[in-house]
Amino acid sequence: MKGLSHPTNDVSLNPSSNSSIRDVIDGVDSSRRQFIQGSVSAAALASAGGLTLGGLVGTVQAAPVPPSPGFPGMGFESIPVSLDIDPSPSVSAVADAVKVPAGYTAKVFVAWGDPIMPGGAPFTGKATETAADQLKQFGMHNDGMHFFPLDGEGEARNSSKRGLLCVNNEYTHEELLFPDGQVGAGYTIAKTRKSQAAHGVSIVEARRKGGKWSVAKNSSLGRRITANTFMWVSGPAAGHALMQTREFVITDVVSTPTGNTSNGRVANGTVNNCANGYTPWGTYLTCEENWNGNFGGTAAVDTSTATEIGKLNRRYGVSAAGFGCRWHTTDPRWDVSTNPNEPHLFGWVVEIDPYDPKSVPVKRTALGRFKHESAQYVVDKDDHVALYMGDDERNEYIYKFVCKGKFNKGRRAANRNLLDEGTLYVARFDADLTGVWLPLTPESLGLDGKALRENPNFSGANDADVLAKILIKTRMAADAVGATMMDRPEWTGARPRINGFKEVEVYCTLTNNNRRGSAVASANATDGSTAAGSARPPVDAANPREDNVHGHIIRWREARQSVLSTAFTWDLFVQAGDSATAKVAKPTNNYQGNIVDAPNGSADYGAPDGLWFDDFGRLWVQTDQVGDGSGDFVNLGSNAMVCADPNTGETRRFLTSPNRCEVTGMTMTPNGRTMFVGIQHPGEDALAADPTQYSNWPQGQFATESDGITALPPGRPRSSVLVITKDDGGIIGT
Ligand code: FEO
Ligand code: CA
Ligand code: CA
Ligand code: CA
Repeated sequence: MKGLSHPTNDVSLNPSSNSSIRDVIDGVDSSRRQFIQGSVSAAALASAGGLTLGGLVGTVQAAPVPPSPGFPGMGFESIPVSLDIDPSPSVSAVADAVKVPAGYTAKVFVAWGDPIMPGGAPFTGKATETAADQLKQFGMHNDGMHFFPLDGEGEARNSSKRGLLCVNNEYTHEELLFPDGQVGAGYTIAKTRKSQAAHGVSIVEARRKGGKWSVAKNSSLGRRITANTFMWVSGPAAGHALMQTREFVITDVVSTPTGNTSNGRVANGTVNNCANGYTPWGTYLTCEENWNGNFGGTAAVDTSTATEIGKLNRRYGVSAAGFGCRWHTTDPRWDVSTNPNEPHLFGWVVEIDPYDPKSVPVKRTALGRFKHESAQYVVDKDDHVALYMGDDERNEYIYKFVCKGKFNKGRRAANRNLLDEGTLYVARFDADLTGVWLPLTPESLGLDGKALRENPNFSGANDADVLAKILIKTRMAADAVGATMMDRPEWTGARPRINGFKEVEVYCTLTNNNRRGSAVASANATDGSTAAGSARPPVDAANPREDNVHGHIIRWREARQSVLSTAFTWDLFVQAGDSATAKVAKPTNNYQGNIVDAPNGSADYGAPDGLWFDDFGRLWVQTDQVGDGSGDFVNLGSNAMVCADPNTGETRRFLTSPNRCEVTGMTMTPNGRTMFVGIQHPGEDALAADPTQYSNWPQGQFATESDGITALPPGRPRSSVLVITKDDGGIIGT
């Protein structure tokens, strides 16, 4: 996600300089070698054709990548980067297109504005839809997603022909959402309501008939969850004084304060739904990322270093200006100057039961409050459940939440509130390739040697009060205990334990951090009071590159193959980069990365963001670089999706994208023969006066009904979900 009103998370709001381990790259590399070689048999290495860490030696281009333990192999050839970037104003369908390998077909499954429930109006292409229309249409700028199978042909909720596709709608681009953009004098509550209606989650019933996927447009299971949907707040922070906020009656035309204060156990809406998660008991998790940008102030907003709310606003980036969003000018619920506790109801993971269209979404406070990217679950060998989560902002942290109760496979309802009780941890990555999960609990010791309950930021009447504050101020608690500042943690993904692979092994994309190591390190401020944006940590073992424009992927293994472990080992799976870069190397960054591909450079990519293991053990990575085929990405073309072998690192490029978009979100049907992939914000930065200045996708590529969705009206580019199948009906990736 990027753009004027929703900028990249390039601003650091972490003022601390926790865990600054100086340059130990050489040590990392040698130990990393041991880690990788320990994870793959000698026979598998031999069959892969003489792999070394530096790349493939003497391999034949386009030979299939053979299976190896826990990995089923790759059968497609890397496709070239899409370098024919369209110069505005001429947009050619050739470059402004999704491309996949030979033998695969990608079509549009659903796009912004498509009707997804009874009474939904077709997309006009003119942005003339009202908020009421948008409430029955697929939301804008889709991101994370998951396919929940429905019953079908005798398969108990295991159908690969019928299911509910839950899709996040991360943000809106007002220049495309309204015919006249977000103009000052013309900005009304009607615009706010439409924008709010385009946020959240879209639940779409997907059906495959005669080999063709389509949206069940009148499905009773179709649903929109938006910035105004009523929700419960549960877990340790529910009901806390900081969660009690002004109560409003919300209608189509006004938000009217009742004069009452909420009980802190209810909320309205979810916003900036970036990446996602799902649970083994069949619920969807939507993660609130840049929610701070949706707030603003008609008067001064408290950013004092001396007040509790001021410190929170500073640490989380809540300000009067926000990201330029104007909701607060017409909807006082979003005006932090008059409604200062409302932001505390955002920054959570929200659990949704997609199978019950009447279910009330629940904000699960036990999982902590930050800028949540994704939430990847692992059920370990003892049925303990953990969720692994990144906080996507420069120099923020990686977390895990361990449920107190065990997963009950036989009784779905028994897991209903599993996410309400447990322990939240934050990761410290040490230079010796071990790490520690630091608990965020009242008794946890801070770097100052005192328990968090004695820290003035978290002290309270009792430990329940202290824990609520720790969760509402998760970032500040993580500062206090000395977590490792990371290069923007995006998605997490867990490697399936199949075909002899038994470890709890989790990966996380660290998308970039172009200020690490670029200046004198900032001071640590464990009380969270330092001004925002000051963190400039030096390189460390887990984040070894200064000016890390291309990002990397870190992974860790839990001790004893148990999610309960507080100790783990880790290594860097890959440093992304451009093997043909002309950029002048820095002492800690050659910008070339170490992607394993043959020939060298054939699968280069940068800014990894989306990351997911399919059930068969293939690792899929999607990119979110800023600048198609220019600047640091001059040789990398448009954003892409690659597939990688977790044992050897061998990588192949599977998909390239249209102009000025991001590839984000992916899921598969249970049989692995259909993949859904998200294309977000094609033609980003276009203005209302010329919506197709940079992209005419998807209608430019898919012109006819048989190519995908019906009636693709011209007029404006649309974020969309692709459906990808293999022409021989095989499993995606084979
Ligand atoms: Fe919305 Fe961090 O990506
Ligand atoms: Ca390479
Ligand atoms: Ca992302
Ligand atoms: Ca990103």
